[in-house]
Amino acid sequence: MNNIKAYIEQHKDRFLDELLHLLRVPSISADPEYKQDVLKASEIIKSRLIEAGVDYAEICETPGYPIVYAEKIIDRSLPTVLVYGHYDVQPADPLELWTSGPFEPVIKKTPLHPEGAIFARGACDDKGQMYMHVKAFELMMNTETLPCNVKFMIEGEEEVGSESLEGFLKSNREKLACDVILISDTGILANDIPSITTGLRGLSYVEVEVTGPNRDLHSGLYGGAVANPINILSKMIASLQDENNRVTIPGFYDDVETLSMEERAEMAKAPFNLEDYKKALELSDVYGEEGYSTMERNSIRPTLDVNGIWGGYTGEGAKTVIASKAFAKISMRLVPGQDPDKITKLFCDHFQNIAPKSVKVKTMPHHGGMPYVSPTNDNGYKAASMAMEETYGKKPVPVRSGGSIPIVALFEQELKVKSILLGFGLDSDAIHSPNEHYGLFNYFKGIETIPYFYKNYTELKQKH
Ligand code: BES
Ligand code: MN
Ligand code: MN
Repeated sequence: MNNIKAYIEQHKDRFLDELLHLLRVPSISADPEYKQDVLKASEIIKSRLIEAGVDYAEICETPGYPIVYAEKIIDRSLPTVLVYGHYDVQPADPLELWTSGPFEPVIKKTPLHPEGAIFARGACDDKGQMYMHVKAFELMMNTETLPCNVKFMIEGEEEVGSESLEGFLKSNREKLACDVILISDTGILANDIPSITTGLRGLSYVEVEVTGPNRDLHSGLYGGAVANPINILSKMIASLQDENNRVTIPGFYDDVETLSMEERAEMAKAPFNLEDYKKALELSDVYGEEGYSTMERNSIRPTLDVNGIWGGYTGEGAKTVIASKAFAKISMRLVPGQDPDKITKLFCDHFQNIAPKSVKVKTMPHHGGMPYVSPTNDNGYKAASMAMEETYGKKPVPVRSGGSIPIVALFEQELKVKSILLGFGLDSDAIHSPNEHYGLFNYFKGIETIPYFYKNYTELKQKH
């Protein structure tokens, strides 16, 4: 497939310009102020899909942001690949930590990206990775190498929990019918160590509010005699993990699927250097659940983390005050076996139980998501593995990721189809953080690899 490289070489500048154009649209789904921009991003993607050669494309309205749907059906008897991605992005704050505007993409070199990387919110998560699929499709159309049918489903609410998706899947089963789902919204271990994501963690997310006295009080006149909700909240949170860093919520680990020693030994073969890891984060040591390696802690083990905590006086200087209320946002990453609704309930009940009588506690669950694991011996995985082997010259390693993409378990539940997580980002690409970036190498390597997946998958499928 020599024509792939030649086509990319010939259209490189345009492929990049088109992505930069999309990155200039601040499609932040979490902030209603950016509503018009989120909608604009969906329109751009629809137009680009039409230009690339789909039979038709439409903007499907949902109770939230729309889903861009498009398809190219060449022959109903051939397999169908459904591409999923998202055009919404995370908020860009804190803005002052960006070295260039989050929506003014620029290309800069980094130690891990000597060829340059595109710095912008959404560069890697997920506009850059999603757009590789649009360009790979264009390439296959224009070189007459598209071997099967393609459907695109690009959503705009992934970063806020994909709340409209379950309804959309349930009412569009026919339209979305496919043999395999292909997603680039994860990463690889390194640019010279290709990998394929074979699992994602689930998510349970709860906001808590602790109320002490009915108003803010003078901390001298009342200090010591009434419950300080910030002190209490801190104690309650601290008690959620024991001295071995295990979560103390009763029943939390009950349904966790444990891996066999063989599986853990297999996992430990994936290249990982603890010293480099610590160095990159400027840590003198790592931290986590006793008895597990760093790689295990952030993939096959569930966790609990405070994502935000606030209350009281945080302005300039000192104000001697006991706040009436304290708040926190707490997330739990879940692994196969654990059910987000069940864990959310266990958390809420426990949090009420451990509260002293002197405060009132409110728990407010947010969106969650189911964990996911995929086999490494089916046609989808084999096609992806062979594709990477062809373009990287190395067989990719299967890796379970710590992140979450709730739609993936929903796809399996509603469409009964497995997803292949063929991502090309690096963990160090700073997704969700200031200075998010995506390597030019990664962008073009993705565009190059995707057509091989289609070819391999179609061939494997036709053998059976
Ligand atoms: N693309 C990420 C998830 C991801 C990144 C998985 C890297 C594996 C490797 C996705 O956009 C995301 O951020 N998901 C959220 C979940 C969602 C419910 C807000 C997450 O993992 O926090
Ligand atoms: Mn994403
Ligand atoms: Mn994300």
